[in-house]
Amino acid sequence: MDIAFRVPRSEDGLAVHQLVEQSPPLDTNSLYCNLLQTSHFAETAIAAEHEGQLLGFVSGYLKPGQSDTYFLWQVVVGEAARGQGLAKRMIQALMARESMASVNWLETTITPDNEPSQRLFKSLARGWQADLSVDVLFDRDRHFGGRHDTEQLYRIGPIVR
Ligand SMILES: CC(C)(COP(=O)(O)OP(=O)(O)OC[C@H]1O[C@@H](n2cnc3c(N)ncnc32)[C@H](O)[C@@H]1OP(=O)(O)O)[C@@H](O)C(=O)NCCC(=O)NCCS
Repeated sequence: MDIAFRVPRSEDGLAVHQLVEQSPPLDTNSLYCNLLQTSHFAETAIAAEHEGQLLGFVSGYLKPGQSDTYFLWQVVVGEAARGQGLAKRMIQALMARESMASVNWLETTITPDNEPSQRLFKSLARGWQADLSVDVLFDRDRHFGGRHDTEQLYRIGPIVR
């Protein structure tokens, strides 16, 4: 399948919103937030597209004051395109960009029950021969008032290219 990996544009925002909506357990954000991800933060995001259809998307940003660390906010692959290495290829392509040359660490958060996502980031760490540590970032009770599962911080690095 011929898949384009490209910098998103604001016109992708609605498709991102719909893809996330169809992909539990991801939290949806406002459409406005997705528009910001695909415009102001486009250089630190990536879209995977096939015949005009958005198959996958990664959002994130360089951590404020810490330009060596990429914080990956969400990764999503449409159900029909899963299990073919697409999530892995999107993140690898994103990290290989010239604009990411200063980045040696990747951080993301995952809930304890999201095994596909845990496997994805463990696989990336293995591929980069980098260490992976896991800590609590946002706690179910202390931060979410019991309304959301604990988000564990996965920190991968140093990534040597
Ligand atoms: C998590 C998600 C992005 C994975 O996308 P994907 O394109 O299917 O993942 P890949 O094919 O690139 O798989 C990468 C690795 O993870 C493993 N993996 C992915 N999904 C898996 C699953 N359901 N069960 C077991 N292993 C899985 C793969 O075997 C692969 O490991 P390998 O490199 O050792 O072979 C996708 O399932 C998804 O969008 N889920 C819903 C949204 C979500 O939970 N996002 C993450 C939280 S931010």
